Amino acid sequence: MVAPARTFAHDGIAFGGDYNPEQWDESVWAEDVALMREAGVDLVAVNVFGWARVEPRPGEFDFSGLDRILDMLHAAGIRVNLATGTASPPPWLAHRHPEILPVTEDGTHRYPGGRQAFCPSSPVFRDAALRLVEAVASRYGAHPAVALWHVSNELGCHNALSHSDASTDAFRRWLRTRYGTVAALNDAWGTAFWSQEYGSFDEILTPRAALSARNPGQALDFHRFSSDALLELYRAEAAVIRRHSEVPITTNFMVAAHIENMDYWQWAGDMDVIANDHYLDHRLGDPRTELSFAADLTRGLAHGTPWILMEHSTGAVNWQPVNHVKAPGQLARNSLTHVARGADGVCFFQWRASVQGTEKFHSAMLPHAGTDSALWREVVDLGETVERIGEVAGTRVVADVALVFSWESWWATDAETRPSAAFGYLDQVHAAYAALAGLHLTVDIVAPGAPLADYRLVVVPGLHLVREAEAAVITDWVARGGTALVTFLSGTVDAEDRIYTGGYTGPFREALGVRVEEFAPVPVDAVLRLESGGAATLWSERMRPTTAEVIDTVVDGPAAGSPALTRNAWGDGAAWYLATLPDAETYGRIAARIAAEAGAAPAARVEGAPREVEVVRRRGDDRSYLFVVNHTVEDVRVHAAGFDLITQTPVSGACEVPAGTVRIIREECAS
Ligand code: GAL
Repeated sequence: MVAPARTFAHDGIAFGGDYNPEQWDESVWAEDVALMREAGVDLVAVNVFGWARVEPRPGEFDFSGLDRILDMLHAAGIRVNLATGTASPPPWLAHRHPEILPVTEDGTHRYPGGRQAFCPSSPVFRDAALRLVEAVASRYGAHPAVALWHVSNELGCHNALSHSDASTDAFRRWLRTRYGTVAALNDAWGTAFWSQEYGSFDEILTPRAALSARNPGQALDFHRFSSDALLELYRAEAAVIRRHSEVPITTNFMVAAHIENMDYWQWAGDMDVIANDHYLDHRLGDPRTELSFAADLTRGLAHGTPWILMEHSTGAVNWQPVNHVKAPGQLARNSLTHVARGADGVCFFQWRASVQGTEKFHSAMLPHAGTDSALWREVVDLGETVERIGEVAGTRVVADVALVFSWESWWATDAETRPSAAFGYLDQVHAAYAALAGLHLTVDIVAPGAPLADYRLVVVPGLHLVREAEAAVITDWVARGGTALVTFLSGTVDAEDRIYTGGYTGPFREALGVRVEEFAPVPVDAVLRLESGGAATLWSERMRPTTAEVIDTVVDGPAAGSPALTRNAWGDGAAWYLATLPDAETYGRIAARIAAEAGAAPAARVEGAPREVEVVRRRGDDRSYLFVVNHTVEDVRVHAAGFDLITQTPVSGACEVPAGTVRIIREECAS
């Protein structure tokens, strides 16, 4: 067993993308490498979808192509992020073993023809995958080009929830380990209701399609199990690699708005370096702010250490209803926003645009139009920029604010029966984050129960499922002088999805100084007026303060006259409670008031304070860097002093940041 490297050592910021040369005649490869050098590419992911090429027939390996690719890249000084290749099984595997196929909740199979056509719990798939990993890792474990191992690809992107027989067996085993006895499981799931008591683990199924709503405890545990099953696959592949190589191992996460099924808090500790794939999602109201949130959450998974943006796009994707191109300059703004928020690598899907296959309308670093194109020039410019700012690598983002995020709360609030189907956990998180981002505050995203000593303000949006000990970390921190904002639905259920009785907000109740008697959600198009003049939607509550001060009140709707915002002095600190969803402007005002009280401040002062300007500081032992990303169409002035790495000019006192551009200022003295 070789000792793990545990960090990804790279000189500066890594730049590159997925390289899928299997698609091209070998005569193209030399041009690829030459152009990669022109663009400043120094890290490429290969073999992501290579299984069918390297194992064309069961147990028969052909590494001749991959050998040449690795040698060619190495000769050009380009490092390789080598994928195990297990993400897309070749047709021969499902043809011989249809039992590996995933099964949906209504019992139908999903067939090969796309990718990820396997059930994560299939032992047959696992054996075949590990045989491939063994072959790849033993061949390339000591290859000098390999800088990083890339297990599978986006584990769980398409196949996270499978109801196959293999999955059912594995779910039963997982439940046995979790509960020990079927009596304990019955208690946890509340099966005494609706005559659901199980007599043995063998009677339990995955939560398959039913005529009525299903048991929510079962659904929640199935989410936990499914995330764990994928993590087990990761661990199994990583263990094989580790026998042959000391190079760091990771897989690409999907911290993104539409991906819910993996609890990456549970996964992060297994990664030697955290890597994320992020695509702007134009189905959202504010894709730009979601990008910043996702980058901050990825940094949270990395515990503040640098991480790698393993994939994003140079332009349009091909899987949204309308696939938006990026505006001129947006590619650099998006990429450098990730760097501002802690990325030490900027990579894309994919190097050369496909001309065939499912992703032929997806943008790439080298577009169909070739090198005589604006997009190629932006890629080359970005490569130069990334090279120029290499000294920021290794520094860490500074944040005054923490936001508590939980995949378990996301799963629990997605249950089939709930107070309002219009409540979306991630929407609540995004709304709180947007209010903070609008104030230019830098936010760390942390797990429930994470230590909070470094922060001035902690925001807890819709933390529906929380353990008492996790809530206590927050309320104790408040008592010691912290300021927290907790929003509605927080503290509703425990880890077994059981309601905390005695007034909602459960373990937060005393610190918040409120008694919530009934939830009173409102129809989606209803607008609630607030006494302060603000407006709100979605939610209100019949509640009253016990010890809290009422700051604002709902004027109309089913909870007219009830508090909308309260503040409770708790120990040496203050616990605020928000019982509705304010509109963006009102939320911004509330956040500003609470942030001011907490003493949370932005990394720099932006004159005129347009919300579409981002300011973030990364700090090292002896240096700091102020990132300013101006997404507006106006020039802005930011208070800073030092040396701008982008324009290579000194900055004294104030920095002009032209419309649509980025500045990265090495500061003379960090504030
Ligand atoms: C990712 C995936 C890539 C590519 C990309 C397109 O989910 O890892 O292989 O499909 O999406 O946006």
